[in-house]
Amino acid sequence: MKLSKNLFLLTLSFFAVVYCATVNAADLKAGAQKATMCSGCHGAKGIGSNGTVPVLAGQHRYYLAAQLTAFKQGQRVNPIMQGIAAGLSETEIENLAAFFASVPYQPKTAASAENAVGKTKYAMCAGCHGAAGEGRGGVPRLAHQHNQYLLTQLMAFNTANRKGGPMPSIAASLTEKDMKAISSYLSTLK
Ligand code: HEC
Ligand code: HEC
Repeated sequence: MKLSKNLFLLTLSFFAVVYCATVNAADLKAGAQKATMCSGCHGAKGIGSNGTVPVLAGQHRYYLAAQLTAFKQGQRVNPIMQGIAAGLSETEIENLAAFFASVPYQPKTAASAENAVGKTKYAMCAGCHGAAGEGRGGVPRLAHQHNQYLLTQLMAFNTANRKGGPMPSIAASLTEKDMKAISSYLSTLK
């Protein structure tokens, strides 16, 4: 009786160790090395200088990996990123996602004035993206993302050119004015 109980606990701890090892398998160092091929556009610190290139610093690991996989498999369409993701292995995607998620976001410029209309409209998004635009897991962080990039993505969801969870139907209910106001509001959040 006692022996079987000990055996049970031993088996349990063995699987716990294997599980933790799998979860933490991403190699940050390998991710940082690979990220040098992204820095020309996304910046050395995960913040592209150009408003069309999304901020990756501090974005959620799960979301980043899912997007790279979507580019690789052609579910998310963008000629530049599809070409890049096609050459990445599953392990490289995990390492890159873990690396960029671990890079702290460092704002370059002072926040501009808050967009009051956008703030009101954002209330309908907060249930998923969080009150401060922080997101979680597969729901991306929107706070401190570039204004122009956010607007492009909302327009792409609005016209169903970008698919992805509930976003196409949500964006379909927004006018261009709403999308501009919300994007402007989110880009001022730190
Ligand atoms: C030649 C420029 C360029 C290079 C190099 C590049 N990217 Fe991108 N990346 C972009 C652009 C532009 C977008 C926006 C695509 C869109 O509008 O859908 C993007 C989008 C992304 C996204 C989606 C982010 C989000 O918020 O949904 C991820 C993730 C990403 N890139 C990761 C990477 C990684 C990792 C590398 C290096 C292995 C890399 N990129 C290299 C230009 C680049
Ligand atoms: C029911 C949950 C939910 C609600 C409500 C929601 N979103 Fe999303 N949103 C998501 C998910 C999940 C994704 C990731 C989609 C994917 O996998 O491509 C996403 C993606 C996005 C992206 C893409 C970000 C990037 O980095 O490319 C933007 C922009 C966005 N949402 C804006 C909004 C706005 C603005 C609202 C409110 C008008 C809103 N969302 C409401 C769940 C939600």
